[in-house]
Amino acid sequence: GQLEKGGYPHFMLKEIFEQPECITNCMRGRVNVNGDNVVLSAVIDYKQYLLNAKRFIIVACGTSWHAALIGKQMIEGFCRIPVEVEYASEFRYRNPVITKDDVVIAISQSGETADTLAAVKLARQHGAFIYGICNAIGSSIPRVTDTGSYIHVGPEIGVASTKAFTGQVTVLTMLALALAKEKETMSYECYRKIVKELHEIPGKMREVLKLNSWIADLSRTFTYARNFLYLGRGYSYPVALEGALKLKEISYIHAEGYPAAEMKHGPIALIDSDMPVVVIATHNGMYEKVLSNIQEVKARKGKVIALVTKGDDTISRIADEVIELPDTIECLEPLLATIPLQMLAYHIAVCKGKNVDQPRNLAKSVTVE
Ligand code: G6P
Repeated sequence: GQLEKGGYPHFMLKEIFEQPECITNCMRGRVNVNGDNVVLSAVIDYKQYLLNAKRFIIVACGTSWHAALIGKQMIEGFCRIPVEVEYASEFRYRNPVITKDDVVIAISQSGETADTLAAVKLARQHGAFIYGICNAIGSSIPRVTDTGSYIHVGPEIGVASTKAFTGQVTVLTMLALALAKEKETMSYECYRKIVKELHEIPGKMREVLKLNSWIADLSRTFTYARNFLYLGRGYSYPVALEGALKLKEISYIHAEGYPAAEMKHGPIALIDSDMPVVVIATHNGMYEKVLSNIQEVKARKGKVIALVTKGDDTISRIADEVIELPDTIECLEPLLATIPLQMLAYHIAVCKGKNVDQPRNLAKSVTVE
């Protein structure tokens, strides 16, 4: 009903707008007010298992799998522990190598996804330590894990996951920071800088949400498209995958997410003047490389929608459309850059008259294979 949607036309839009508050709730009692420390009770209670792990394996499906790809980069980068990311459905049927020196992290919004639950049970049989990152309290996955951290973003009703994704990325960020501190794999200066910036993210998300009506206008231009390409590198590559998934799920436009540099090995053949290409081109270590990827798209007359850092006037001269994001630290960019892509998918689907909250053929939680 209208009442549960809190004045928004759809649950999805309500949930997109809830993100600053959700992330605040997710960090409450975990990231301290001075912004100089992260405390996860699971890391305190199960320190010896987590610190002695030789490897992390993250299992998940769908949007949760995209969050896992971001978590991998942070855990490897901050903690120097090898991390593998697996689709739960592939992992469980492959006779994978799992040992008692592995920590398996299961990420699931619902905590009920059949493949993820089965992957957890398999890992447990092999003696791995299991850490859950879930939203639904008391659901099946948290009940079979050794420990975990809830994302605390509240019930997610829209089938296309939004606030759960940013909540998962936030928990993974806190986990990577807490482990890095224990393992002393990161300088205190760097740790402190990221923790302080994490604290600023909800406020920066509020700035990003102000783009909504402009993205709604922009979306009308792109309802013609039959295909979309999403490009990003590094931390922005999983964001590209997630942006493409959102569009597919609710607007039924075919979309592919790709690491920007891989474009030349295939997708570039598809680019013509009908092809919208969303590029995450924020001002980070990959900026120059992504800029040249944009030039490659423009040389083939593709329509570039670029996500840039506020104040970038180089890309605004080349791209067809520019979406400006507040500046932040590279590893935290996904928390901001995902939001305009959620809004873009939402508005294109609404323009096309699609059932945004309940897209055809999709279920909120896939409890059967
Ligand atoms: C379904 C949902 C997706 C979700 C995926 C994994 O496909 O439609 O939004 O990402 O399942 O769900 P989980 O609850 O395990 O995160």
